[in-house]
Amino acid sequence: MNTGKATVDEIRHRFDQDVERFSNLETGQSATMDAPLVLDLIRQLVPATNPAARAMFDIGCGAGNFTLKILQMLPNLDCTLMDLSLPMLQRARQRVGAATTGRVTCLQTDIRDYTATPESFDVIVAAAVLHHLRAEQEWRSVFQMIYRALKPGGTFWVWDMITHDTPAVQTIMQQSFGQYLSAQKGTDYRDAVFTYIEKEDSPTSLNFQLNMLRQTGFQTTEILHKTAVFAAYVAIK
Ligand SMILES: C[S@@+](CC[C@H](N)C(=O)[O-])C[C@H]1O[C@@H](n2cnc3c(N)ncnc32)[C@H](O)[C@@H]1O
Repeated sequence: MNTGKATVDEIRHRFDQDVERFSNLETGQSATMDAPLVLDLIRQLVPATNPAARAMFDIGCGAGNFTLKILQMLPNLDCTLMDLSLPMLQRARQRVGAATTGRVTCLQTDIRDYTATPESFDVIVAAAVLHHLRAEQEWRSVFQMIYRALKPGGTFWVWDMITHDTPAVQTIMQQSFGQYLSAQKGTDYRDAVFTYIEKEDSPTSLNFQLNMLRQTGFQTTEILHKTAVFAAYVAIK
């Protein structure tokens, strides 16, 4: 079926060329709003909720920024890093390997194709990656996989682009994101970012994701941050 959206190969190819942009631990991904703030929130909250964590899993790890932030507080974690892009994974392995005394495992795969060992992780992170999922069934099966993969008491941390269910709200929030991008690097940059989002991404609303998490079995969810079309939350098993 041709949805007009980018294929997995096209998405992989674009990220293969973009490793540097995802390798700055201070700024995070600057095309998202409040990335440094959320990186720092997760740095503080993961050890507070899972102080005895031994194993973490970073889905769509990019160059490893979120894992590196968590390792600043929990430096002995075994880290499983997953990404579509081999150059991203190579950079993540290099950076994460230097920051943990634990094992580093790299998986080059599409999250939709991955079957995790049940109850194998204390902490799972998915930052700026779930918006690549398309059909509702993909979200459901990925959330089910994540739920199974977590140990009891384990936590699932998400930071991502979202939409709003009310069109008027979405319009204003999207404009706010556009103003942020224009203020950073001008209107051509804003238009370029909006063009690749339109081509590649299929974000869903926070309501959709929180409902789906509950259906999957997560009883506790907390919204950690929201600004315009970006939100962070945690779900606890
Ligand atoms: C926007 S980047 C975010 C990287 C990192 N999480 C961060 O916040 O710095 C998204 C990453 O997800 C990866 N990705 C996209 N679709 C994916 C999929 N279906 N399965 C696994 N990784 C995927 C891309 O290759 C890219 O490295």
